[in-house]
Amino acid sequence: MKIIDLRSDTVTFPTPEMREAMARADVGDDVMGEDPSINRLQELAAERMGKEAALFLPSGTMGNLAAVMAHCGRGDEVILGNQSHTFLFEGGGIAYLAGVHSYELPNLPDGRLDLQAVRDALRSDDVHYPVSRLLVLENTHNRCGGTVLPLEYMDAAAETAHSLGLSLHIDGARIFNAAVALDVPANRLVQGADSITFCLSKGLSAPVGSVLCGTRDFINKARRMRKHLGGGMRQAGVLAAAGIVALEKMVTRLGEDHKHAQALAKGLAGVDGVIVETPVPATNMVFVHLSDAVKADTKGVVQSLAGLNVKVGVVGSRRYRLVTHYGIEAGDIQTVVEAFRSVLQ
Ligand SMILES: Cc1ncc(COP(=O)(O)O)c(C=O)c1O
Repeated sequence: MKIIDLRSDTVTFPTPEMREAMARADVGDDVMGEDPSINRLQELAAERMGKEAALFLPSGTMGNLAAVMAHCGRGDEVILGNQSHTFLFEGGGIAYLAGVHSYELPNLPDGRLDLQAVRDALRSDDVHYPVSRLLVLENTHNRCGGTVLPLEYMDAAAETAHSLGLSLHIDGARIFNAAVALDVPANRLVQGADSITFCLSKGLSAPVGSVLCGTRDFINKARRMRKHLGGGMRQAGVLAAAGIVALEKMVTRLGEDHKHAQALAKGLAGVDGVIVETPVPATNMVFVHLSDAVKADTKGVVQSLAGLNVKVGVVGSRRYRLVTHYGIEAGDIQTVVEAFRSVLQ
């Protein structure tokens, strides 16, 4: 019996083509810059993002942290959203490991930051304050519902950051979902950004890895930071080989995940007791909560769904996140809707 696991797009398994590529991968010592598969992945990633250079890292968390460390010194300040992954879900690493102070602005419901609020957050030159150094945006925005920050906003944010003397880093864990949803090439979407991290291990289905892209100088600094963080890997070309397949073969199919998310939202909207928060999800995430009429509690519903081979993520009291991804087929959507109906009836 198939388990329909919608907790995250990180649960995806490598495709058969990835497993083959991993078995065949040419490898070398990447700390010495000698892994041909990693070098190829980095070139490909830099090209896809329109940047000079790229760096392969074990995770998106390390990619964002290395980026913050390469942009900022200890005691500098990064402006970011209070719903951002870097602020909420990366263990406070920018404070704990990088000594960087954060200035959190409230994310707008669609994941953007108000650009006037960014201007207002800029510190003046005064010893009482940290030095404002970096603006971080997330696209797509996970906690805000897999929302997409549009092209005009991305351009305006870059212009604002630069006019304030700040650099702009994009946490683009799912930047290709944004690019596909907007039908804009990813490199155009991040054209104004100084750096971007994107993940191979989410919707693109590779087993491990993220890539940080930026100028050659910036990537040289970030490579040093990766080493500080213990992220220098050796014959990790076996992982990069899957990443190459992810970039070459898995981007265009993301639109399928978005269609499945829309079908799921539509189906769940017809189930008594379920309130779908965004009737037409922008990408691959559906957020729902239970209506007051439902007596079952948050965990009880998850357990009952699991008994029907459906797994969903809990993201608050009576609130769930369902993420579509490679491996979830159109037919599974109806199964999930029926599982909710049967649990809540
Ligand atoms: C928006 C966003 N950024 C960064 C990350 C971190 O990626 P990783 O789990 O590879 O550390 C995630 C993970 O879910 C994410 O959703």
